[in-house]
Amino acid sequence: MNCWGGWLLCMTVRPADWQKPSMTEPASDRPPRRPRYRGKNPRHFHEKYKEHQPDRYAADVAKVLASGKTPAGMHRPVLLNEILACLAPKPGDVVLDCTLGYGGHARELLAAIQPGGKLLCTDVDPVEIARTEARLRGLGYPDDSLIVRRMNFAGVVKFIEAESPGGVDVMLADLGVSSMQIDDPARGFSFKFDGPLDMRMNPGRGTSAAALLAQLDEDSLARILSENADEPHPLEMAQQILLAQSHDPITTTRALVDVVSAAYDRYPRQFAGSSEVGVRRVFQALRIAVNDELGALSALLRNIAYCLKPGGRLAILTFHSGEDRRVKLAFKEGLQSGIYSSISEEVIRASPEEQRANPRSCSAKLRFAIRAFEPDLDIGD
Ligand SMILES: C[S@@+](CC[C@H](N)C(=O)[O-])C[C@H]1O[C@@H](n2cnc3c(N)ncnc32)[C@H](O)[C@@H]1O
Repeated sequence: MNCWGGWLLCMTVRPADWQKPSMTEPASDRPPRRPRYRGKNPRHFHEKYKEHQPDRYAADVAKVLASGKTPAGMHRPVLLNEILACLAPKPGDVVLDCTLGYGGHARELLAAIQPGGKLLCTDVDPVEIARTEARLRGLGYPDDSLIVRRMNFAGVVKFIEAESPGGVDVMLADLGVSSMQIDDPARGFSFKFDGPLDMRMNPGRGTSAAALLAQLDEDSLARILSENADEPHPLEMAQQILLAQSHDPITTTRALVDVVSAAYDRYPRQFAGSSEVGVRRVFQALRIAVNDELGALSALLRNIAYCLKPGGRLAILTFHSGEDRRVKLAFKEGLQSGIYSSISEEVIRASPEEQRANPRSCSAKLRFAIRAFEPDLDIGD
């Protein structure tokens, strides 16, 4: 059985997605009623009841995976073997997974550090973190070998101070959003499905993308489009978006797609190329701004020396140039200043096979660093 086969067996139902059983029958004996949908096959995220219940429909989910798609409600770990090779986790290690997500990397790290190891995990997403923790606990490792905390990794030093005061042996950050977040229209990340224009990884905190658009002036929006997504015509795109916003507030993902696509139709010489590429850039730029992703990454990069034990190993997986530039520079500076004894010379990319099997791996770039034994920094300095 491959690693996904084993994982499928211990996955949980997403109870919030299903209709409750009737009051007259014993709830525990009846499978949840499947959602109603038009046509022969479910097309929308919440209708895909088989994919949301991989324990019950393992064969159907395996078929979806084999076709190169990510089943609804699941995330496939990117560059898993390469990350394990860089990090070389061993029994007894303390490991920090800053971006728990679906737990695909965490699951393998947890297995590799048994017996005696401890896996610390953080994630900002309150919706997915409980499901993932339940799946990991279902694997049957000792209770105290897993500690999951909902928090932003920007503040991870305090978590490590409390749980592993000497620092950790291994650290992983797999940046960006999970497939569960992107694919669920209700989370408002996707330009493919209509939903509220939200994009918050933690929907209970901060400002949604719709509220952010309502606050921004042209220059600020242009800066976001340029810095977060390398938009080639940031000011012109910002003008088009805010002009539409002034007529009718943009509150849904579909409305934002329509505004960007209309700009491409109206000014084909200015916005040359595919409007889908332009839409992707606008969505990426707003998502990064809404979640202050680059601010959190910079804070993490500043704190790593205080998190890793001497000789500890770190891997960071990025998905766009703005992130990778920051990681590359921080690693280079850390090597020069003696914080790291070695860093990856080149980025590691997904193999053609992985890119074919999981298109989301195409833009992934992996870098790693090893903490030097000197200088001796105390955590919390
Ligand atoms: C690409 S997914 C990680 C997937 C995971 N490695 C797996 O195998 O399932 C990124 C996750 O990081 C979380 N995340 C992003 N930025 C974060 C931050 N600043 N602090 C904590 N979690 C963050 C997201 O909520 C998301 O769940």
